[in-house]
Amino acid sequence: MAYTVKNEKLKQWVDGVAKMCQPDRVYWCTGTKREYNRLMKQMVASGAAIKLEKRANSFLFRSDPSDVARVEARTYISYPTRDQAGPTNNWIATDELKQIMTGLYNGCMRGRTMYVIPFMMGPFGSPMSRIGIEITDSPYVVCNMHIMTRVGTRVIEELGADGEFIPCLHSVGAPLEPGQKDEPWPCAPMEQKYISHFPDENLIWSYGSGYGGNALLGKKCLALRIASAMAKREGWMAEHMLILRLISPVGKQYHIAAAFPSACGKTNLAMIQPTIPGWKAECIGDDIAWMKIGPDGRLYAINPESGFFGVAPGTSYSSNPMAMESVKENTIFTNCALTDDGDIWWEGMDGPAPAHTIDWKGRDWTPQSTEPAAHPNARFTAPASQCPVICSDWEKPEGVPIDILIFGGRRATVVPLVTEAFGWDHGVYMGATAASETTAANIGAVGNLRRDPFAMTPFCGYNMGDYFQHWFDMGDRLGNKAPRIFYVNWFRKSPTGKWLWPGFGENSRVLKWMCERLEGTAGAQKTAIGYVPNKEDLDLSGLTIPDENIEELLRVDNNAWRAEIPDVEAFFAKFGNRLPERLRQQLANLRERLG
Ligand code: OXD
Ligand code: MN
Repeated sequence: MAYTVKNEKLKQWVDGVAKMCQPDRVYWCTGTKREYNRLMKQMVASGAAIKLEKRANSFLFRSDPSDVARVEARTYISYPTRDQAGPTNNWIATDELKQIMTGLYNGCMRGRTMYVIPFMMGPFGSPMSRIGIEITDSPYVVCNMHIMTRVGTRVIEELGADGEFIPCLHSVGAPLEPGQKDEPWPCAPMEQKYISHFPDENLIWSYGSGYGGNALLGKKCLALRIASAMAKREGWMAEHMLILRLISPVGKQYHIAAAFPSACGKTNLAMIQPTIPGWKAECIGDDIAWMKIGPDGRLYAINPESGFFGVAPGTSYSSNPMAMESVKENTIFTNCALTDDGDIWWEGMDGPAPAHTIDWKGRDWTPQSTEPAAHPNARFTAPASQCPVICSDWEKPEGVPIDILIFGGRRATVVPLVTEAFGWDHGVYMGATAASETTAANIGAVGNLRRDPFAMTPFCGYNMGDYFQHWFDMGDRLGNKAPRIFYVNWFRKSPTGKWLWPGFGENSRVLKWMCERLEGTAGAQKTAIGYVPNKEDLDLSGLTIPDENIEELLRVDNNAWRAEIPDVEAFFAKFGNRLPERLRQQLANLRERLG
């Protein structure tokens, strides 16, 4: 071991896990470049990774075809009683789940190395940061954690003898018999996968999957599911939100946090390049925000992560140039296609498709192939520091003060381009009733409409009814210092199925309107669902969009909204008496406004 561990609790936990999982050896990670390079070299030698000739210090991994996304159906929020997990989470009672998983963990690391990864979520020196320790038998996980979190000796130093940490146990669930050759991507069959959370103990147990959100436990498991439960207990917020800084032509800064379901463009918005003259944007985070009320009574946000685990397909110099620049080197690619000259490729990248690639399953691929070359949920793991527009304050220990909160989703119909809430309670209603068409970020059908309150359905570590109440409580504490709340939909389509809004950098026009609403300089029409801009309230200069498209984008069809009320009612009914009265009141108000 390269350092001395003084924390008895940590030593005991690691010893206990080693006894249970029976690895061949235990290795404590230091987080150094040398460690990263050595592990990558090993994985290239074993056939698990391919070194990219065309991209400095970058590697391609191909997962097992069954292990390509988060598995919500195998994700559990475990408490003694089901009601504590609530209707939106899978639940197995704590004792029972621990018994099942202990059975699986017994001997599961035979033939493998057990890595102990000390990591910090949040900047060093921030009172909002939290320490996690991930134990894993996957060197792929170690290397990804190096990028996505702050790994290393400094964390052990900060932990000291009595510091608190969040134990995160992970195994790919594929022990090796003596002499057995390893798979390039070991994992367990679906029915043995468990992504389990025990929020009462701040404990994570993940088994059977090597894929991103199931295996990089600092991200969804710690920074959202466990952190959301901690945040409720301690009076702060852990949200599925990007964070960005927008700078007006006169140099005024606005900080925006925005929640969208997985694969709905959070990374694109986080790195937006405004198309309107004089406006600039800087990225602080693309997936998760931890927010706390500061000494001045405002809401401050940090990004607990230090990297981007972004969806690759669709990312290009036209959709997200800053992401393309971020992945130029030192990047891990998973389930992308490999070009003949040793680079990666995916659908939606700039320029024509290559004449030949090796697809994500390792087969020859040409543009005539019937399946995509990259998996739709193929990912890049890149250091946030490599983003050319990373904000100089992205690691500021106290975070940045949030002015604007945005909710949204993918809706082909009904929902206008942008709506401003009448106030905090109405904004909470908007967040709670957010709905989106499903994407490839989770295993399951794509394109179905599902309610995804606050984009947190897969990530809330306790009863979502209590989570709604927590939002009201935070609003009460923030009072008139609360951020303003907006709802956006970049994805509205014409009756013939064409996108009405160009999106990407042009979304800055919508952000500008929000800032002007804060300043009191932009107009809006008061509709039944909130304030919606009139055409002339949006800065559309230089944009050639037919008038009728703008009208359709901003149209509020009271009949269509009325038609959705039964679905909202049915959704609310799931929460029984855990549904805050104030949400019921908001629904009643909406019904009245719709007439
Ligand atoms: C993600 C997700 O990976 O939300 O960020 O699925
Ligand atoms: Mn996400």
